[in-house]
Amino acid sequence: MIPVETAEEQEIVNRVFAANQGHVFRFWNELTGESRKRLLDQLNAFDFKQIAELTNRYIGSKTSNPLKRQLEPVRIIPPISAASDRKRFEQIRKLGEKAIMDNNVAALVVAGGQGTRLGFDGPKGMFPAGCVTGKSLFQLFAERINATEKKYNSTIPWYILTSQQNDAETRAFFKDNQYFNLNPAHIRFFRQGVMPGLTPYGKLILDAKDHISVNPDGHGGSLLALRKSGALADCRNRGIKWLFYFQIDNVLVKICDPLFLGYHIQRDAEMSVKVVTKRDPYEKVGVIGVVDGKVKVIEYSDLSVEEMEACNPNGRLKYNGGNIALHIINVDFIESLVSDGVKLPFHKAFKKIPTIDDAGNPVESEDSNGYKFEMFIFDALPAAREVVVMEVLREEEFSPIKNATGFDSPETARQDMSNFYGQWLEQAGYNVPRDQNGNVTINIEISPMLALEADELPARLPANLDLTSDLYLE
Ligand code: UTP
Repeated sequence: MIPVETAEEQEIVNRVFAANQGHVFRFWNELTGESRKRLLDQLNAFDFKQIAELTNRYIGSKTSNPLKRQLEPVRIIPPISAASDRKRFEQIRKLGEKAIMDNNVAALVVAGGQGTRLGFDGPKGMFPAGCVTGKSLFQLFAERINATEKKYNSTIPWYILTSQQNDAETRAFFKDNQYFNLNPAHIRFFRQGVMPGLTPYGKLILDAKDHISVNPDGHGGSLLALRKSGALADCRNRGIKWLFYFQIDNVLVKICDPLFLGYHIQRDAEMSVKVVTKRDPYEKVGVIGVVDGKVKVIEYSDLSVEEMEACNPNGRLKYNGGNIALHIINVDFIESLVSDGVKLPFHKAFKKIPTIDDAGNPVESEDSNGYKFEMFIFDALPAAREVVVMEVLREEEFSPIKNATGFDSPETARQDMSNFYGQWLEQAGYNVPRDQNGNVTINIEISPMLALEADELPARLPANLDLTSDLYLE
């Protein structure tokens, strides 16, 4: 018997027991009224049918989805980098520019992740990433949005996905920094949903006597959160047709890239994706392919060695397009996806989940002890009527900060940023110092407010640049 005070509370308790999750009340007798309410409120929000389905589908099965599928390569638009090439694509780019000028484009950053690999104390967007200035990721992106608005004399609303854990701190950071000179009326924070962790037996996990362990529901949760928070309706009211989706950790992201937008619009696509060439056949990155007639991201763990190594007659890998999580997504398409709940599948990961011991004290599990469930944004691709897959150069557009050290870390991002802006200066006629590996040997950072693209730079450069020490241009 769990003593409760109201019929509503009793109904929640009944649901919990019917779902065989009664163990969550094991400290009930020790809880105060407020703690009891906290636990019941949390339980009330859970979808026990979904939890049972996840348990049956993902936890019971030993094999991780043995794939019987027809995989074929996808058509990929090759990278366009040289200035001469750019001229040929001017018309397509103009389509994208027009969409920005017409105020039909918004930016969407997913910043609700836990950033456990980086281990930074605070929302990842607050991480100091400017290689000379130490500007935060949020500031770097804000300035790119600001510069794009100025260039096209338009407004680009910015939707920022946060989580339960980092929402308040993220909002406070923007406020304390005067929204990085953006108009706060065009910035909207919205929180993603959560999913409970489950033991290998499908049981909920207490992480306090009055609280169940939950995690953000994955970047795919952004779609449902857009609708639930009213952000999707806000897009509609503002006349936004296309969302430029990016992740919080990529220091080289070209926000609202007009060429990417242009292709997307020209081909009347519903969702598009940028890819980079894989570093080698075995790189641990999802690749884009056509599976049973639908464009999909195939996770590296779902590719056979034969598929990883398969080559075209020209010697290039057949499945070469590594997903870098940059998308354009139509507002209409999102609406159609979320109108009756999201149909994205869940992915499970066996992780260390915070828990408590028999006395209710927090314990750090030494090994993984339970499953986390997340939705991934790229699972929306197969539902799109048309998808543009566009290859870009890694050194120009992709350098994520994921790990504390080693690859995809602050150190590689710093080098990639210096190499990137170093190349701009070289194009402007300067001799930039590089080592024998081709890496620029000073830190170089250029504010997007000075130049958004390389060809804007020469006319705006000050005279007599000193390239013997770190350089910041604004
Ligand atoms: P990652 O896969 O890098 O996950 O997210 P993470 O949680 O940030 O980091 P780790 O794995 O714990 O080290 C890719 C992008 O998706 C966002 C992240 O903020 C990042 O921009 N994301 C991820 C969300 O917004 N919500 C989530 O639930 C998960």
